[in-house]
Amino acid sequence: MKCLKINYDFNHAIATHREPFKFDRIKVDNYQENGFYPTLHQTAIRVNNSWQEIINNPALLVAPRTLDNHFEYSFPSTSSLITPTAFGELAQFFILYPETERSTRTFVLLYIKPKNKFSHFLFLLLKSYWLKSYDLVVEQDAHALKTLYPEQKPKIRLPREEIMFYAEKLYREWNGIQF
Ligand SMILES: [Fe+2]
Repeated sequence: MKCLKINYDFNHAIATHREPFKFDRIKVDNYQENGFYPTLHQTAIRVNNSWQEIINNPALLVAPRTLDNHFEYSFPSTSSLITPTAFGELAQFFILYPETERSTRTFVLLYIKPKNKFSHFLFLLLKSYWLKSYDLVVEQDAHALKTLYPEQKPKIRLPREEIMFYAEKLYREWNGIQF
């Protein structure tokens, strides 16, 4: 359930992935539930990275300051987001699959459609840094799962949490669990 929640929690990047991606503000609009296939549009604003951070991970150079992410979820396994950048379009797929009753595995598929030959070359050059960034994202998520999303039913719901409660509802209905 926690793994499902973090994949639906479009807001967790501010805290969980703050370093080195420097997310500052996240705004969401046009959230639609659509049964098993919720969609939404997210604007994520980043602050500038230091030169030290860019030297450590040059892939940050091609990350826009403002990300216009289009999210599409396919319950329960897939959260996808499409992001246009100055160098081309990125499509990221965060996949979950249960391994045992107590463990869930995850992996990320990344597709890039470069705008031109220069962008293609740039993405190839930065490939290993991109892949390292995803290792870090998965590591940060795994760490966050230990502290985020308490088991108790919360007393108040924030508007940005609606989608997580919706995912939880789908999960419980799917399993025939009474809430
Ligand atoms: Fe995450």
